[in-house]
Amino acid sequence: MLFETEQEVLAWYEKEERVLTPKFISEIPWHEISQHPLNPEFIPTLLYMRDVEKFTEIYYQELLQTPTVKDPAVRQFIDRWSMEEPVHGELLNRFLNEAGHSTSDTWYEEAKRKIPKSNFIIRPLSTIIARTVGKKFAAVHMTWGAIQEFSTLNGYQRLWEQAKHPVLEYILRAIAREEARHSFFYWSVARIKLLKSNFRQALTRFLVKKFWTPVGQGLKRASETNQVIRALFQGEEGVRFMDQRVNRQLESLPGMAGLKIVTERVAHIALKHTPSSF
Ligand SMILES: [Fe+2]
Ligand SMILES: [Fe+2]
Repeated sequence: MLFETEQEVLAWYEKEERVLTPKFISEIPWHEISQHPLNPEFIPTLLYMRDVEKFTEIYYQELLQTPTVKDPAVRQFIDRWSMEEPVHGELLNRFLNEAGHSTSDTWYEEAKRKIPKSNFIIRPLSTIIARTVGKKFAAVHMTWGAIQEFSTLNGYQRLWEQAKHPVLEYILRAIAREEARHSFFYWSVARIKLLKSNFRQALTRFLVKKFWTPVGQGLKRASETNQVIRALFQGEEGVRFMDQRVNRQLESLPGMAGLKIVTERVAHIALKHTPSSF
C-alpha cells in the first residue's frame, strides 16, 4: 500500500483502532504469568524496553519544539503515538511484577534520574539543528522514526521467540500490532517527504548516517543498548534478521539504498568477527 499524501497516511492510521484497549488489557491472563518460568537473562531487556517506551514522553516534548509538528498529519499522528507508547511500558512493568520481578512505584522517576548527563547536551543540539533546517527536517525525523519503530517491532518478536513465555508472547504480539502501524506510518510519510526533493534525500542520508543510534540510546547508556542487542540478535543469524527486517525497510526509502547503518551496528555488537557480507 503506497500513499500519495501525508493526509492519506493519516486517514489510514486513524481508521485503525487501538489494539490495547482497557478491555483487552483487563482480559490478559495476568494470573497465569507466574505459572510459567521466565529466564532471568531476559529481565534487563524487559526493563530497557519498559523504560524506553515510557521515555516516549520525553521524545514527544522534544518533537513539539521542532518544525516537524507543523505538518498537521504528523502532529495528529504523534499526539496519538505519544499516548500509545507509554501504555506498552506500563504493560511490561506489570508483566515483570506478575513474573516475580517486583519494581518500585516510582520506577519511572528512577529511570529518568539515570538518564546520562551527556543527553542533556546532545538532545537540545539536535533540536537546534532541526529548527535551522526547518520543514525539510521532517524527512529526517520520519526516516529515523521508521528505523526505530521497525527495530522495536522486530525486537519484540525476537524476545517472544526466545523467552518462550506464553503470556509474554500474548502481550508482545498485541504491542507489536501497534508497533507495526507506527512503523508503516513513519515509513509511508518518510517516503512521501523524501520523494519531494533530492536535497531532502541527501540531507536525510547524511544525518542518519552520521547521527543514528539504536532505540533508547542516549536516554540509556550505550553499554545497556549493546546488552539488549547482544541478547536479542546474537550471531550471524541475528544480524541477518535485522538486516532483512529493518535495514531493508530503510533501504527501500528514496535515496537510502546501500545505507547499512542498522546492520553494521548490530554486526559490530552481536558478532565477534566482522561479517563477510549481508
Ligand atoms: Fe511501543
Ligand atoms: Fe511504536
